[in-house]
Amino acid sequence: MAVQISPSILAADFARLADEAAAVPNADWLHVDVMDYHFVPNLTIGLPVVEALRKATSTPLDCHLMIDDPDRWAPQYAEAGAGSVTIHAEAAKGPIRTLREIRSLGARAGLALNPATPVEPYEDLLTEVDMLLLMTVEPGFGGQKFLDGVLPKVRRARQLIERHGGRVWLQVDGGVDAGTIERCAEAGADVFVAGSAVYGASDPGAAVDALRAAASLKSA
Ligand code: DX5
Ligand code: ZN
Repeated sequence: MAVQISPSILAADFARLADEAAAVPNADWLHVDVMDYHFVPNLTIGLPVVEALRKATSTPLDCHLMIDDPDRWAPQYAEAGAGSVTIHAEAAKGPIRTLREIRSLGARAGLALNPATPVEPYEDLLTEVDMLLLMTVEPGFGGQKFLDGVLPKVRRARQLIERHGGRVWLQVDGGVDAGTIERCAEAGADVFVAGSAVYGASDPGAAVDALRAAASLKSA
């Protein structure tokens, strides 16, 4: 399993996003947290910023939509050039249709589950997704404490994925840092979102390297 690191720009300086993207040239993705004040109690950035960022960096954008009605909005993020678009299972009314639309527009399709949402009901959807995102904090804010209680679900998700051929990436998001990333890798995650642990560091690029090294040690 190849370890991938996706720094979350939620913890970056929003006034200097192009510089903040350039600070992590060794990142596999840039994680873009889109929030709408409805699905989560916070408001961040949307399509115009994704379009601008797309032109400002060659790092592919990993858009995590924490919004109501993703069926309506997600395809536009794929059209805007996001490399990956992830919708929440709790918010989507027609997830299969929306995931197919994302793929048909050339992006990878992701499905996200909140900490309290079980993974088993989504087993049959694995053929429709390129990445499963398991939240390891309640979505809405950066800098929260990692929820250890999600790790058994990460393990079960890895088993489900392997049963279906091992093609689907397994992403963890929330509280992932030098102290928690090894447990996530050990449980079977292979794509790691990190906001504070990267942009809170004095050298964000070095933080990406350190996280990758720690995850690779424990990765199967
Ligand atoms: C939280 C977001 C995360 C957040 C992670 O709702 O989805 O991507 O940026 O931030 P840290 O790594 O600081 O927990
Ligand atoms: Zn996120």
